[in-house]
Amino acid sequence: MSFQVDLLKPIYDFLACRTPQAWVDAACQNIPLLLQDHANCEKKAAGTAMNLMFRYGAHTELQVKLAQLVREEMLHYEQVIEIMRQRGQVWEAVSASRYALGLRKHIRTHEPAALVDVLIVGAFVEARSCERFAALAPYVDEELAKFYRYLLKSESRHFEDYLTLARTLVADSERISIDERIALFRDVERELIESTDNEIRFHSGVPLLN
Ligand SMILES: [Fe+2]
Ligand SMILES: [Fe+2]
Repeated sequence: MSFQVDLLKPIYDFLACRTPQAWVDAACQNIPLLLQDHANCEKKAAGTAMNLMFRYGAHTELQVKLAQLVREEMLHYEQVIEIMRQRGQVWEAVSASRYALGLRKHIRTHEPAALVDVLIVGAFVEARSCERFAALAPYVDEELAKFYRYLLKSESRHFEDYLTLARTLVADSERISIDERIALFRDVERELIESTDNEIRFHSGVPLLN
């Protein structure tokens, strides 16, 4: 599947680490939990993009990209809940993982720094989602494997969109600071993925086995 190799190359280059096999093994033992958390993540991805649309109404390019993103994330959300419904899985409240908060707490509060950081965090969340769909696909049932491979394509585009917006919306003089921020969030993200975590979620760390 060479198209996947092409899609994944920039993702693997952007992220500091690959998903540990221990997470893949634990996730495969907890598919219903993973699906529920995945549904929540799709809804949150749409919500994050929608919040940005309200906060930065003056950026036309941002509005257009984000409007498309909201539609795609909501479609993914519908698709995940349809898979849950077909499997007879009832909706359950699942707490959020530490991942998004762990990234978001480093977002600066003044503009345009805040916008740059939010977009970089968005790029990491999308890139990691993409990487995890690829990591899971060989180990899950055929229906989910097909779904994950399909999602991989969207999420890789979302990662590029967020990154392009971060680079183009800020003046040339701030380019260096963007690369510095990417480096910072890359380290934070790797730590969240590679350190032990007592919960299993779509973006959780290395599961504590007990
Ligand atoms: Fe999505
Ligand atoms: Fe996405």
